[in-house]
Amino acid sequence: MDNNRYDRYDSHRPRKRVSRKTLRRRQLTALFIIALLVLLLILLIAHACSGKPKKEEKGKVGKATTTTTTAVVTNTDPAITTTTVTTTSADPVNKSDFKLDKYSVFIEVGETDTPMVQQYPDGASEADERWSSGDNTIATVDDYGHIKGVSPGTCYVTLRSAQDANQEVMIKVTVRGDGTTNDTASPQSNRTEAPEPPVYDAEGLTYVQGVLIANKSYSLPSTFEPGLEPLVYEQFQKLSSDAAKEDLKIYVGSGYRSYSDQEKIYDNYVQQDGKEAADTYSARPGYSEHQTGLVIDVNTIDDAFGYTPEAAWLAEHAHEYGFIIRYPQGKEAYTGYKYEPWHIRYVGSKLATKLYNSGQCLEEYLGIKSEYKE
Ligand code: DAL
Ligand code: ZN
Repeated sequence: MDNNRYDRYDSHRPRKRVSRKTLRRRQLTALFIIALLVLLLILLIAHACSGKPKKEEKGKVGKATTTTTTAVVTNTDPAITTTTVTTTSADPVNKSDFKLDKYSVFIEVGETDTPMVQQYPDGASEADERWSSGDNTIATVDDYGHIKGVSPGTCYVTLRSAQDANQEVMIKVTVRGDGTTNDTASPQSNRTEAPEPPVYDAEGLTYVQGVLIANKSYSLPSTFEPGLEPLVYEQFQKLSSDAAKEDLKIYVGSGYRSYSDQEKIYDNYVQQDGKEAADTYSARPGYSEHQTGLVIDVNTIDDAFGYTPEAAWLAEHAHEYGFIIRYPQGKEAYTGYKYEPWHIRYVGSKLATKLYNSGQCLEEYLGIKSEYKE
């Protein structure tokens, strides 16, 4: 009987007999070790989860504070009852390590402008700049980045690093050909009433109470390509020059975008952050207000802009020039987008002042939604 037992476990050595107490002690030790391992595993999983937003931040433009917050907003409109809005990060246009003083250029035919490089990618210098124009019939660019207007239209000029072809930055060039500039505009006339924007006569546009709407619920036809509305640019120049009197620099970061411009931008973000996240800060092609020609993103498209004196001045004074901060803080459930302190939309000073005084955003004021049907 005993021999059979030894055969089953160890044919050479009989098992040592252990007391009940020793057995219990061993069992307790084993349990303790297992509990420790489980705890360690839980800690590892928790750490991995908390690290995820940081990974998303890293994928961004490499500068500025990027925050991840979740806001639950309640509204009396049953359609917007309880909405969870997850804001992720900034909305950069370019993703290279080049930093320029401007990413949009507005010139007349025959006029020249030169974006200044403020920072190069690692290992690159002035000698590594490689400039090219996407459309030489609209604007040319030489080896030094001098961009010259050839004919009215919009194109992109690209700056690449000779060291690393992946390091490239694009500058949107708008060439205007009507010969009307406002360089001599009287500085004291800047805060007169800002007129209402023109009503575009095109198929497929949605106007609500006379206001052109482009949001997640109301799209624009891909063929609608108005370019930056001259009145908007004129009003922006007034705003910018009044800000300059207070030593503040407010400039165009990104203005008009065509359907295909927006397509490239949006697709890029989807690749980078996934569709769900991209939809919180970038419009799908056909749904961007930038396609209306009534919008300007000022300065750097970056959460950090919200903390600058320029952003504070803009929030206080934009309405005097006919602009609204289109995606205000705390209004994500209405607008469908995270806070963008840099995105201003022209509506004329009458409506802009009304919204400024009431604290309402455009969707809230007009009683409309901004939700994709999907
Ligand atoms: N960032 C805004 C929502 C746009 O893409 O038009
Ligand atoms: Zn914008």
